[in-house]
Order: sequence, then C-alpha cells, then structure tokens
Amino acid sequence: MNKTLRKAVIAGNWKMNNTRVETKALINDLIPLVKDADCEVVVCVPFTNLETAVNLTKGTNVKVGAQNVHFEKSGAFTGEISADMLTEMGVEYVVVGHSERRQYFGETNVTVNKRTKAAVAAGLKVLLCVGELLEEREQGITDELVALQTKIALQGIDKADLNKIIIAYEPVWAIGTGKTATADQANEVCAVIRATVAKIYDQAAADAMTIQYGGSMNAGNAAELLSKPDVDGGLIGGASLKAADFATIINAASK
Ligand code: 13P
Repeated sequence: MNKTLRKAVIAGNWKMNNTRVETKALINDLIPLVKDADCEVVVCVPFTNLETAVNLTKGTNVKVGAQNVHFEKSGAFTGEISADMLTEMGVEYVVVGHSERRQYFGETNVTVNKRTKAAVAAGLKVLLCVGELLEEREQGITDELVALQTKIALQGIDKADLNKIIIAYEPVWAIGTGKTATADQANEVCAVIRATVAKIYDQAAADAMTIQYGGSMNAGNAAELLSKPDVDGGLIGGASLKAADFATIINAASK
C-alpha cells in the first residue's frame, strides 16, 4: 500500500451468504472492532440484506455495497436491480464483473463495461473485478488478459470519474481455494493494472487509483499482501464472514 498516494480499501464480498438475522449479528459484531480503522471498510451483502446493512451502519465508518447492478435505468429486466434503486437505499458501493458472475452468469467484458458506466453515472463506487483463470496463468497470458479486461471495462469512463472506481485483481484460481497468490504475484499484476490505467489516462490517474487483491486473503496472510506497494487493499470472501478475521485484515490495512 502507498497511503500517501491513495486510499486503502478493504471490502468484504459476502457472496450468497447470511440471512437477515445473520447479517444483523455479523454487522453488529464488526462495527466496534473496526471503528478506528484507517482505511475504507465496505461490506457487500446480498440484495435482500442491503437495507438492513445500511440501517445498521448509519453513523459508523462501515460502508455498504451490492454485489451486482444492471446497466439499464429501468424496464423489462426480470430479476435485475438498477443503480438508482441502490443509491436511493443508501448503498455506496457495488461489485462489478466478479469472476463468479463471469463464470456462471454470462458476464462479459462488454457487460462489465456497461454496468460500470451505469453505476458511475448514478454515483456509486465500483469494485471492478478482473483476473485470470489458472490455464491462462499457465499459458503465460495473465498480464495481457488482465490489461485487456481493464481496458474494456474502463471504455468511455472519464478521467474525472476514476475516483469512483477501485479495481480488484482476483486471480480465479485463488478464489475460495485457499491458494493465495504470493504477495509478489499479487503485486506484479496490480502493477500491470496500474500501468494499463496510466496508458489509458496518465500516471497521476494511475497513482491515485486504489487496486485491491482478492483470492483467499485472510487474517494470516493479509499483512504480507498489503505490505506490497501496488496492493492497496483487499476484496475478501470467506474471511469476511467472520467479524474477528475481517477486523484483523482491516487492522493490517490500517497500519
Ligand atoms: P475468497 O476470499 O473466499 O477466496 O473470495 C475472494 C473473492 O472472490 C472476493 O470477491
């Protein structure tokens, strides 16, 4: 992390976990543990728990995010949720392009770009996910692939709106597998993403951009990952479901 240049952001992606009752318990446990955090703290909860999470975190330093957003403002899109619906509720963040959406729900670089634009236009902050599959890493195409995902996702985004975008580098082979990228691997690809942003915009824009690592980040390995200069935070799945573990990661990012 380089906190002199940019903000550290630790976000929990709860995925499809926690009922409303469980949401209340987890957030109530978390709030006192992270109240002095020197980084942005976000919990991305299922749609059905957003309102509960927004109400519980009012007046605290914990921000709430959704896990997806549709790109149209309204219309015949059964099962979808618009950016305005999220902001009206007090939601500040949204995850876009998570690999699970790419893998299981037909998300493409083009729809990731559309969702990013719609979210930014509505005033949401986007946690924009990119990352390679294991076969792609083995083929030696990680850098090109992640650069391409980044370029397409950012198409049509004005430089002035980049402060609403956080990029999360999540190698797919590290998600939920317990196989974390080494701190050097994470830093290397975060640096590739930063260089890509510099090429599209300029160095100042790239230096200001928060780039997270995600993929089996936990209480034990967070400090080392976050010690790398280009790793500005984390997008955490499993370990964000336990208040104490998530708080340990947040404290590591606060140092
Ligand atoms: P895990 O931390 O469970 O590997 O999940 C990472 C992730 O996908 C966060 O979006």
